[in-house]
Amino acid sequence: MTARILDGKAVAARIRAEIRQRVEERVKSGLPRPGLATVLVGDDPASHVYVRMKRKACQEVGIESFPHELPATATQEEVEDLIMQLNQDPRVHGILVQLPLPKHLDEERILGLIDIHKDVDGFHPVNIGRLAQKGREPLFVPCTPAGIMVLLEEAGVNLEGAKAVVLGRSNIVGMPVALLLIRANATVTVCHSRTRDLPAETRQADVLIAAVGRPEMVKADWVKPGAVVIDVGVNRVEAPDTPKGYKLVGDVAFDEVKEVAGVITPVPGGVGPMTIAMLLKNTLRAAELADRERVAL
Ligand code: GUN
Repeated sequence: MTARILDGKAVAARIRAEIRQRVEERVKSGLPRPGLATVLVGDDPASHVYVRMKRKACQEVGIESFPHELPATATQEEVEDLIMQLNQDPRVHGILVQLPLPKHLDEERILGLIDIHKDVDGFHPVNIGRLAQKGREPLFVPCTPAGIMVLLEEAGVNLEGAKAVVLGRSNIVGMPVALLLIRANATVTVCHSRTRDLPAETRQADVLIAAVGRPEMVKADWVKPGAVVIDVGVNRVEAPDTPKGYKLVGDVAFDEVKEVAGVITPVPGGVGPMTIAMLLKNTLRAAELADRERVAL
């Protein structure tokens, strides 16, 4: 039997429509329009595409975007000055620093400078620290992991006691999604480049999250029959017979894995649109947090 395909694009469209409505309502009631500042340093082509998509999505739901582009030669001080300026700007409710940053910049310092109330990516060490601790609540959860959890809920996946395997331990996806799965009472294994016998690990998974950035690495015989497979990978591979000369594939060999899995996300149209929907949701939440501060003053 072939797997049920989880349509992230459709779920994201629904969430975006809800956000658009909530933004309109708050603006009608006299509250400020939510604002997102995007900080893009350097000329990584994929980062430019992602930031453009995020800004377009903001526009569609009525969130104002404040784009900032710095050259690849920008200094640590220039980026830090920009962050501090955005922290002070009342029109800016969320600050997104697109990663990766050029190598000469200190990412940890830059992300740590963002006001945690504006940390819509959830990468500030305080937000990540809270995510990692029992009984603590981060103000924001990183967007791709949050989107994955929404997709799992949409699919009706019961995580209670389930065996989840996460492929990849990045700060952006692997680690935070593992923390979220633990919070949802799954038993979680995080696999990485040094893991011995990866297929033996992944075959145990009721829920398999692939976030390694290796085109079509996960094969059919890596997957337990009926498993839920979430593919976070977005990899460009050559495809001479297509107009662009390349196509996007995930970390999962979709055509063969869909014959084994119970549920699977496609690439594109699975996790990607959810990341952007969660960014919009976090930005609206940041504006709502700022409303409360205003009331408290
Ligand atoms: N680079 C890849 N994914 C992300 C993301 O979700 N947020 C940011 N800021 N950079 C990224």
